[in-house]
Amino acid sequence: MTELEAAVQEIAAEMAARPDRGEVASYISELAGVDPGAFGIVVIDADGNAVAGGDADTPFSIQSVSKVFTLTLALGMVGDLLWRRVGREPSGNPFNSIVQLERERGVPRNPFINAGAIAVTDVILSGHQPREALGEILRFLQFLAQDDTIYVDRAVAESEKRTGFRNIALANYMKSFGVIANPVDFTLGVYFHHCAIAMTCRQLAMAGRYLAHSGRIPSTGSSVVSPERARRINALMLTCGHYDGSGEFAYRVGLPGKSGVGGGILAVAPGRASIAVWSPGLDANGNSHLGRIALEKLARRMGWSIF
Ligand code: DON
Repeated sequence: MTELEAAVQEIAAEMAARPDRGEVASYISELAGVDPGAFGIVVIDADGNAVAGGDADTPFSIQSVSKVFTLTLALGMVGDLLWRRVGREPSGNPFNSIVQLERERGVPRNPFINAGAIAVTDVILSGHQPREALGEILRFLQFLAQDDTIYVDRAVAESEKRTGFRNIALANYMKSFGVIANPVDFTLGVYFHHCAIAMTCRQLAMAGRYLAHSGRIPSTGSSVVSPERARRINALMLTCGHYDGSGEFAYRVGLPGKSGVGGGILAVAPGRASIAVWSPGLDANGNSHLGRIALEKLARRMGWSIF
Protein backbone atom coordinates (compact mmCIF):
# COMPACT_ATOMS: atom_id res chain seq x y z
CA MET A 1 0.00 0.00 0.00
CA THR A 2 1.37 3.44 -0.90
CA GLU A 3 1.61 6.30 1.58
CA LEU A 4 -1.28 8.01 -0.22
CA GLU A 5 -3.49 4.90 -0.06
CA ALA A 6 -2.77 4.48 3.64
CA ALA A 7 -3.49 8.16 4.31
CA VAL A 8 -6.81 8.05 2.42
CA GLN A 9 -7.94 4.86 4.19
CA GLU A 10 -7.08 6.19 7.63
CA ILE A 11 -8.71 9.56 7.02
CA ALA A 12 -11.88 7.94 5.63
CA ALA A 13 -12.14 5.64 8.66
CA GLU A 14 -11.55 8.47 11.11
CA MET A 15 -14.05 10.79 9.43
CA ALA A 16 -16.75 8.09 9.26
CA ALA A 17 -16.45 7.62 13.03
CA ARG A 18 -16.27 11.24 14.23
CA PRO A 19 -19.24 12.51 16.22
CA ASP A 20 -18.76 16.19 15.25
CA ARG A 21 -20.34 16.37 11.81
CA GLY A 22 -21.59 19.96 11.41
CA GLU A 23 -25.10 20.90 10.28
CA VAL A 24 -26.60 19.83 6.95
CA ALA A 25 -27.83 22.82 4.88
CA SER A 26 -31.55 23.28 5.42
CA TYR A 27 -32.37 26.42 3.41
CA ILE A 28 -32.62 24.23 0.29
CA SER A 29 -35.22 21.71 1.49
CA GLU A 30 -34.03 18.85 -0.76
CA LEU A 31 -30.59 19.04 0.87
CA ALA A 32 -31.96 18.90 4.42
CA GLY A 33 -32.67 15.18 4.12
CA VAL A 34 -29.11 14.11 3.18
CA ASP A 35 -27.48 11.68 5.65
CA PRO A 36 -24.95 13.61 7.80
CA GLY A 37 -23.09 10.33 8.37
CA ALA A 38 -21.76 10.27 4.81
CA PHE A 39 -18.09 10.89 4.04
CA GLY A 40 -16.27 10.34 0.76
CA ILE A 41 -12.83 11.14 -0.60
CA VAL A 42 -11.04 10.59 -3.93
CA VAL A 43 -7.51 11.69 -4.78
CA ILE A 44 -6.29 11.45 -8.38
CA ASP A 45 -2.54 11.72 -8.74
CA ALA A 46 -0.49 13.03 -11.68
CA ASP A 47 -0.40 9.55 -13.28
CA GLY A 48 -4.18 9.36 -13.22
CA ASN A 49 -4.38 6.82 -10.38
CA ALA A 50 -7.49 7.29 -8.26
CA VAL A 51 -7.32 6.52 -4.55
CA ALA A 52 -10.78 6.37 -2.99
CA GLY A 53 -12.18 6.11 0.51
CA GLY A 54 -15.64 6.05 2.12
CA ASP A 55 -18.67 7.08 0.03
CA ALA A 56 -16.58 7.90 -3.03
CA ASP A 57 -19.23 6.86 -5.54
CA THR A 58 -22.35 8.41 -4.02
CA PRO A 59 -23.66 11.39 -6.03
CA PHE A 60 -24.18 14.59 -4.05
CA SER A 61 -25.28 18.11 -4.95
CA ILE A 62 -22.14 19.98 -6.00
CA GLN A 63 -23.76 23.40 -5.43
CA SER A 64 -21.11 26.14 -5.37
CA VAL A 65 -18.33 23.83 -6.53
CA SER A 66 -19.98 24.26 -9.95
CA LYS A 67 -18.84 27.90 -9.86
CA VAL A 68 -15.25 26.87 -10.65
CA PHE A 69 -16.44 25.33 -13.89
CA THR A 70 -18.77 28.16 -14.87
CA LEU A 71 -15.90 30.58 -14.23
CA THR A 72 -13.68 28.50 -16.52
CA LEU A 73 -16.34 28.49 -19.24
CA ALA A 74 -17.05 32.23 -18.98
CA LEU A 75 -13.34 33.07 -19.16
CA GLY A 76 -13.15 30.88 -22.26
CA MET A 77 -16.00 32.85 -23.83
CA VAL A 78 -15.10 36.46 -23.02
CA GLY A 79 -11.58 36.32 -21.53
CA ASP A 80 -10.56 39.25 -19.35
CA LEU A 81 -13.71 41.20 -20.27
CA LEU A 82 -15.31 39.09 -17.54
CA TRP A 83 -13.58 41.30 -14.96
CA ARG A 84 -15.79 44.22 -15.95
CA ARG A 85 -18.71 42.31 -14.48
CA VAL A 86 -17.13 40.75 -11.40
CA GLY A 87 -14.14 41.46 -9.12
CA ARG A 88 -11.31 39.30 -7.82
CA GLU A 89 -11.18 40.20 -4.14
CA PRO A 90 -12.21 38.12 -1.14
CA SER A 91 -15.47 39.47 0.25
CA GLY A 92 -15.05 38.67 3.94
CA ASN A 93 -18.82 38.22 3.95
CA PRO A 94 -21.17 35.22 3.79
CA PHE A 95 -21.74 33.61 0.39
CA ASN A 96 -25.23 35.08 0.01
CA SER A 97 -24.50 38.58 1.33
CA ILE A 98 -25.88 41.68 -0.41
CA VAL A 99 -24.19 44.48 1.61
CA GLN A 100 -21.25 45.22 -0.68
CA LEU A 101 -23.30 45.37 -3.85
CA GLU A 102 -24.71 48.84 -3.30
CA ARG A 103 -21.38 50.46 -2.43
CA GLU A 104 -19.67 48.72 -5.34
CA ARG A 105 -22.33 49.60 -7.93
CA GLY A 106 -23.69 46.13 -8.45
CA VAL A 107 -20.31 44.56 -9.29
CA PRO A 108 -19.83 41.51 -7.03
CA ARG A 109 -16.53 41.10 -5.20
CA ASN A 110 -15.58 37.77 -6.78
CA PRO A 111 -16.96 34.97 -9.01
CA PHE A 112 -17.61 32.55 -6.12
CA ILE A 113 -20.01 34.45 -3.86
CA ASN A 114 -23.57 33.94 -5.06
CA ALA A 115 -23.86 37.39 -6.66
CA GLY A 116 -20.60 36.89 -8.57
CA ALA A 117 -21.52 33.41 -9.73
CA ILE A 118 -24.91 34.66 -10.94
CA ALA A 119 -23.09 37.37 -12.97
CA VAL A 120 -20.78 34.68 -14.43
CA THR A 121 -23.77 32.51 -15.36
CA ASP A 122 -25.30 35.54 -17.07
CA VAL A 123 -22.16 35.78 -19.26
CA ILE A 124 -22.44 32.10 -20.24
CA LEU A 125 -26.12 32.60 -21.07
CA SER A 126 -25.44 35.67 -23.26
CA GLY A 127 -28.59 35.54 -25.36
CA HIS A 128 -28.84 31.75 -25.65
CA GLN A 129 -31.76 29.75 -24.37
CA PRO A 130 -31.34 28.65 -20.72
CA ARG A 131 -31.55 25.00 -21.80
CA GLU A 132 -28.59 25.45 -24.17
CA ALA A 133 -26.46 27.22 -21.57
CA LEU A 134 -27.17 24.54 -18.98
CA GLY A 135 -26.39 21.84 -21.54
CA GLU A 136 -23.06 23.55 -22.23
CA ILE A 137 -22.13 23.50 -18.54
CA LEU A 138 -23.23 19.88 -18.07
CA ARG A 139 -21.36 18.69 -21.18
CA PHE A 140 -18.21 20.49 -19.99
CA LEU A 141 -18.34 18.58 -16.71
CA GLN A 142 -19.04 15.30 -18.50
CA PHE A 143 -16.05 15.93 -20.77
CA LEU A 144 -13.73 16.82 -17.87
CA ALA A 145 -14.79 13.82 -15.81
CA GLN A 146 -15.02 11.57 -18.88
CA ASP A 147 -18.37 10.40 -17.62
CA ASP A 148 -21.65 11.14 -19.34
CA THR A 149 -23.76 9.89 -16.43
CA ILE A 150 -23.35 13.22 -14.59
CA TYR A 151 -26.81 14.79 -14.31
CA VAL A 152 -28.81 17.75 -13.04
CA ASP A 153 -30.95 16.86 -10.04
CA ARG A 154 -34.18 18.61 -11.02
CA ALA A 155 -35.75 18.18 -7.57
CA VAL A 156 -32.84 20.11 -5.98
CA ALA A 157 -33.09 22.85 -8.62
CA GLU A 158 -36.86 23.19 -8.12
CA SER A 159 -36.45 23.24 -4.37
CA GLU A 160 -33.85 26.00 -4.57
CA LYS A 161 -35.98 28.00 -6.99
CA ARG A 162 -38.92 27.85 -4.57
CA THR A 163 -36.89 29.30 -1.69
CA GLY A 164 -34.21 31.27 -3.56
CA PHE A 165 -35.43 34.68 -2.37
CA ARG A 166 -31.94 35.96 -1.61
CA ASN A 167 -30.58 34.97 -4.98
CA ILE A 168 -33.63 36.48 -6.67
CA ALA A 169 -32.95 39.70 -4.75
CA LEU A 170 -29.23 39.66 -5.63
CA ALA A 171 -29.94 39.12 -9.33
CA ASN A 172 -32.57 41.87 -9.50
CA TYR A 173 -30.31 44.26 -7.62
CA MET A 174 -27.45 43.61 -10.05
CA LYS A 175 -29.86 43.98 -12.95
CA SER A 176 -30.72 47.48 -11.69
CA PHE A 177 -27.03 48.40 -12.14
CA GLY A 178 -26.89 46.84 -15.60
CA VAL A 179 -24.60 44.00 -14.47
CA ILE A 180 -27.11 41.30 -15.55
CA ALA A 181 -27.83 41.39 -19.29
CA ASN A 182 -30.38 38.59 -19.70
CA PRO A 183 -33.88 38.31 -18.19
CA VAL A 184 -33.30 37.64 -14.48
CA ASP A 185 -35.48 34.49 -14.61
CA PHE A 186 -33.32 33.01 -17.37
CA THR A 187 -30.05 33.68 -15.57
CA LEU A 188 -31.35 32.37 -12.25
CA GLY A 189 -32.86 29.31 -13.92
CA VAL A 190 -29.44 28.32 -15.29
CA TYR A 191 -27.73 29.19 -11.98
CA PHE A 192 -30.12 27.07 -9.87
CA HIS A 193 -29.75 24.15 -12.25
CA HIS A 194 -25.95 24.20 -12.46
CA CYS A 195 -25.78 24.33 -8.65
CA ALA A 196 -28.07 21.27 -8.66
CA ILE A 197 -25.67 19.13 -10.71
CA ALA A 198 -25.03 15.86 -8.88
CA MET A 199 -21.57 14.28 -8.92
CA THR A 200 -19.60 11.73 -6.96
CA CYS A 201 -16.22 12.44 -5.39
CA ARG A 202 -14.67 10.33 -8.12
CA GLN A 203 -16.27 12.39 -10.88
CA LEU A 204 -15.42 15.67 -9.17
CA ALA A 205 -11.77 14.76 -8.65
CA MET A 206 -11.61 13.76 -12.32
CA ALA A 207 -13.15 17.08 -13.34
CA GLY A 208 -10.57 19.04 -11.31
CA ARG A 209 -7.49 17.50 -12.93
CA TYR A 210 -6.88 20.38 -15.33
CA LEU A 211 -6.48 22.75 -12.39
CA ALA A 212 -3.86 20.51 -10.79
CA HIS A 213 -1.84 20.18 -14.00
CA SER A 214 -1.40 23.62 -15.50
CA GLY A 215 -4.59 23.51 -17.53
CA ARG A 216 -4.06 20.07 -19.09
CA ILE A 217 -5.54 16.66 -18.43
CA PRO A 218 -2.37 14.55 -18.13
CA SER A 219 -3.88 11.19 -19.12
CA THR A 220 -5.34 12.46 -22.41
CA GLY A 221 -2.99 15.35 -23.09
CA SER A 222 -5.94 17.63 -23.82
CA SER A 223 -5.54 21.26 -22.94
CA VAL A 224 -8.55 22.80 -21.18
CA VAL A 225 -7.11 26.22 -20.34
CA SER A 226 -3.68 27.86 -20.57
CA PRO A 227 -1.23 27.36 -17.66
CA GLU A 228 -1.65 31.03 -16.78
CA ARG A 229 -5.44 30.72 -16.59
CA ALA A 230 -5.21 27.60 -14.45
CA ARG A 231 -2.91 29.46 -12.02
CA ARG A 232 -5.33 32.35 -11.82
CA ILE A 233 -8.39 30.18 -11.20
CA ASN A 234 -6.42 28.43 -8.44
CA ALA A 235 -5.52 31.83 -6.96
CA LEU A 236 -9.21 32.74 -6.83
CA MET A 237 -10.06 29.40 -5.24
CA LEU A 238 -7.44 29.99 -2.56
CA THR A 239 -8.52 33.54 -1.75
CA CYS A 240 -12.30 33.31 -2.30
CA GLY A 241 -13.26 29.61 -2.57
CA HIS A 242 -14.52 29.31 1.01
CA TYR A 243 -16.13 32.77 1.33
CA ASP A 244 -15.53 34.28 4.77
CA GLY A 245 -13.81 31.02 5.72
CA SER A 246 -11.18 31.35 2.96
CA GLY A 247 -8.43 32.62 5.24
CA GLU A 248 -8.97 29.79 7.69
CA PHE A 249 -8.97 27.21 4.88
CA ALA A 250 -5.71 28.60 3.45
CA TYR A 251 -4.18 28.65 6.93
CA ARG A 252 -5.18 25.09 7.79
CA VAL A 253 -5.09 23.29 4.42
CA GLY A 254 -2.83 25.49 2.29
CA LEU A 255 -4.38 24.43 -1.03
CA PRO A 256 -6.76 26.12 -3.49
CA GLY A 257 -10.24 24.77 -2.77
CA LYS A 258 -13.88 25.37 -3.62
CA SER A 259 -16.71 24.36 -1.33
CA GLY A 260 -20.44 23.89 -1.82
CA VAL A 261 -23.35 23.76 0.62
CA GLY A 262 -23.96 20.16 -0.45
CA GLY A 263 -20.82 19.42 1.59
CA GLY A 264 -18.43 18.90 -1.30
CA ILE A 265 -14.98 20.46 -1.63
CA LEU A 266 -12.73 20.31 -4.68
CA ALA A 267 -9.09 20.95 -3.74
CA VAL A 268 -6.01 21.19 -5.92
CA ALA A 269 -2.43 20.23 -5.06
CA PRO A 270 -0.66 21.79 -8.05
CA GLY A 271 1.47 19.29 -9.99
CA ARG A 272 0.42 16.51 -7.65
CA ALA A 273 -3.27 15.79 -7.29
CA SER A 274 -6.90 16.69 -7.74
CA ILE A 275 -8.87 15.94 -4.58
CA ALA A 276 -12.61 15.75 -3.92
CA VAL A 277 -14.10 15.29 -0.47
CA TRP A 278 -17.73 15.18 0.62
CA SER A 279 -19.37 15.31 4.00
CA PRO A 280 -22.78 17.04 4.13
CA GLY A 281 -22.50 18.66 7.58
CA LEU A 282 -21.37 22.29 7.35
CA ASP A 283 -19.54 24.71 9.63
CA ALA A 284 -20.75 28.22 10.48
CA ASN A 285 -19.47 29.60 7.15
CA GLY A 286 -21.40 27.01 5.09
CA ASN A 287 -18.34 24.91 4.24
CA SER A 288 -18.05 21.15 4.85
CA HIS A 289 -16.87 20.64 8.44
CA LEU A 290 -15.30 17.19 8.05
CA GLY A 291 -14.31 17.86 4.45
CA ARG A 292 -12.02 20.64 5.61
CA ILE A 293 -10.60 18.57 8.46
CA ALA A 294 -9.95 15.66 6.09
CA LEU A 295 -8.13 17.93 3.64
CA GLU A 296 -6.06 19.44 6.45
CA LYS A 297 -4.95 15.97 7.54
CA LEU A 298 -4.23 14.83 3.98
CA ALA A 299 -2.24 17.95 3.05
CA ARG A 300 -0.18 17.77 6.24
CA ARG A 301 0.55 14.07 5.90
CA MET A 302 1.51 14.30 2.21
CA GLY A 303 3.36 17.61 2.56
CA TRP A 304 1.10 19.13 -0.07
CA SER A 305 0.64 22.73 1.08
CA ILE A 306 1.47 25.23 -1.68
CA PHE A 307 3.38 27.31 0.84
O1 DON B 1 -27.14 29.80 -4.35
C1 DON B 1 -27.04 29.09 -3.36
O2 DON B 1 -27.28 29.49 -2.24
C2 DON B 1 -26.60 27.65 -3.58
N1 DON B 1 -27.06 27.16 -4.83
C3 DON B 1 -25.10 27.56 -3.57
C4 DON B 1 -24.45 28.12 -2.34
C5 DON B 1 -23.24 27.38 -1.92
O3 DON B 1 -23.00 26.26 -2.28
C6 DON B 1 -22.38 28.07 -0.92
N2 DON B 1 -21.26 27.23 -0.57
N3 DON B 1 -20.79 26.82 0.40
